[in-house]
Amino acid sequence: MKPPKRLQPLVDEGLIDTVVRQLMSGKEAMVFVVRSGGETLCAKVYKEATQRSFRQAVDYTENRKVKNSRQARAMAKGTKFGREKQEEAWQNAEVDALYRLAGAGVRVPRPVNFHDGVLLMELVTDADGDAAPRLNDCEFTPEDARRHHATLVTEAVRMLAAGVVHGDLSEFNILLAEDGPVIIDLPQAVDAAGNNHAERMLMRDVGNLAAFFGRFAPELRKSEYGAEIWSLYVAGSLTVDTPLTGRYEHKQGAVDLRAVMREIEDTREEENERLRRMAGG
Ligand SMILES: Nc1ncnc2c1ncn2[C@@H]1O[C@H](COP(=O)(O)OP(=O)(O)OP(=O)(O)O)[C@@H](O)[C@H]1O
Ligand SMILES: [Mg+2]
Repeated sequence: MKPPKRLQPLVDEGLIDTVVRQLMSGKEAMVFVVRSGGETLCAKVYKEATQRSFRQAVDYTENRKVKNSRQARAMAKGTKFGREKQEEAWQNAEVDALYRLAGAGVRVPRPVNFHDGVLLMELVTDADGDAAPRLNDCEFTPEDARRHHATLVTEAVRMLAAGVVHGDLSEFNILLAEDGPVIIDLPQAVDAAGNNHAERMLMRDVGNLAAFFGRFAPELRKSEYGAEIWSLYVAGSLTVDTPLTGRYEHKQGAVDLRAVMREIEDTREEENERLRRMAGG
């Protein structure tokens, strides 16, 4: 097809030979299949900031490093310059996360290049070499559901060990490649250590996995891998090899403390009662 305007600069630079077809138009991006140096790749073209919801971006970009305070102020004010910087931060976050996760051995599309607001990456394919389906478009036997769920929980651990929480992990952002699930769509990925929402996002990500695969293997719905993983992470004892149970002992802080106080009070009353009886008897 004739290259769309946003891909033309990459054609001019020789990064893309031909544009094969448009694959998708999502909330944040348009995705194309392209040919490049004898390889078939995927080109993700980010939509303009104004075409996207920026409310949610606020959570995600918290604590994301910007180069200087002028940028930070402009981003906070929402000026045109600010929006452009916000936009760059958003796109770079996905590129950063892809390189970081690929480096940590997480199964994500191999990043190839980032140019003029376009991310070039591996095209994830199924057994026929076609663009891989999303998990949401697949059916699973209970056994396969359990197996993929376990794989993806381990991937969430691997990501966390690399300091990243996906933040939008679900059956819509995981593709089923010939060799198993591949995690995509990372512009909202957050720094696990520096973001106040990291715990909530990890819990939601891992909860989404349980809910989805729980459709095929219902016992998964009761699992609590998210809470278990986060508590191990906070304790500094999470590695990819840490055995997980999917169970979590909920601590009930204040409530339990009150129960303990009552227990002590009751014991003291009983003791006083006993002393009174002894004195009187
Ligand atoms: N590397 C890839 N290989 C194959 N298909 C891909 C790849 N990246 C994206 N896609 C396809 O394009 C769709 C949209 O990509 P992505 O989720 O990254 O963008 P998005 O704008 O967030 O879309 P959405 O709003 O649907 O979540 C995916 O659901 C998937 O079908
Ligand atoms: Mg998506």
